Amino acid sequence: MTITVGPRSRIAGTGAYVPERVMTNAALEALVDTSDEWIRERTGIRERRVAAEGEAASDMAVQAARRALEAAGLSPSDLDMIIVGTISADMPLPACAAFVQQKLGCPGIPAFDVAAACAGFVYAMSIGDQFIRSGAHRNVLVIGVELLSRVLNWKDRATCVLFGDGAGAAVLTPAGDDGRGVLSTRLYTDATLAESLCIPAGGSKEPLTAAGIEEARDKVHMVGGDIFKVAVRNLTSASREALEVAGLEPKAVDWVVPHQANMRIITQVAQRLDIPLDRFVLNIERYGNTSSASIPIALDEGVRDGRIQPGNTVLMCALGAGISWASALCRM
Ligand code: ACO
Repeated sequence: MTITVGPRSRIAGTGAYVPERVMTNAALEALVDTSDEWIRERTGIRERRVAAEGEAASDMAVQAARRALEAAGLSPSDLDMIIVGTISADMPLPACAAFVQQKLGCPGIPAFDVAAACAGFVYAMSIGDQFIRSGAHRNVLVIGVELLSRVLNWKDRATCVLFGDGAGAAVLTPAGDDGRGVLSTRLYTDATLAESLCIPAGGSKEPLTAAGIEEARDKVHMVGGDIFKVAVRNLTSASREALEVAGLEPKAVDWVVPHQANMRIITQVAQRLDIPLDRFVLNIERYGNTSSASIPIALDEGVRDGRIQPGNTVLMCALGAGISWASALCRM
């Protein structure tokens, strides 16, 4: 068999979708013992979006995907592969990506999910990039989507104030010889803290029971402090490695599009990388932590409002449950 090695991939188009319903910190004060002040000071979040009743993760993903395809000048029939980063798929089986394919109407191409939590989009992008570099595929749709409002315990103030719903997408196509494209991606997992952020029941280890539902074991459990410390350290080192592999210094970065989990984490990463915060694309204030969707939503915002220009060097970094984390460096 002859393996044709293709060029690296580039981001040919981006798209995003957030549900219409806004849930403010004030609305959360009515649900749990919290305050707008605590949430803003500890996280930077003012409000988040919540999906409508009947709206599925794949519905949000498809909205983002259609916008990304339009921006890339492609149609669903041009796609060779769909990869969805999510931990809140429509159903445990089959993959969210299968429903995305069904709704886009492009049968026959591989469509699968990547469960790397908040790092899901960068993982999916890295996988898509490898398929294009190998020459196996040309047009890969990469999506990060989360409908976390349905897997949150709305009585747990330590988690329910943090997350939001949304979707973001990017279409990867083979890069030309103009220096644009995905310059490097780095993927990591260290499961030492795997239980610090999990949904304990509803999988094969602990099938769902009435008692489990009563104890909210089918909802997100998190020891936030454990994750905070490793997040700052690992996001910084992963960003440095993505730069090193590409032979670039932090000062070469035009924009950082970080995972939006906590403004304090982002601020500390910015300090350690010595990249000013005004070169970070931020939207945590409006959307909270949308897990795998946060990077592609912010990327799309930066592209559409003109901050991110063709030729700009963009650094992405994310960390979440697993603990899995990842970074990517792209010339747009
Ligand atoms: N409102 C008011 N008080 C609260 C709330 C709330 N919503 N939540 C917790 N508190 C209280 C705690 O009970 C505690 O009270 P105590 O001192 O009386 O015990 C106090 O506030 C401080 O709690 P901490 O957990 O120490 O607060 P911290 O400053 O660590 O902030 C947070 C918590 C925001 C969760 C932070 O730890 C964090 O952002 N962690 C990282 C989260 C993350 O990145 N997750 C990974 C991505 S998610 C994914 O992969 C799906």
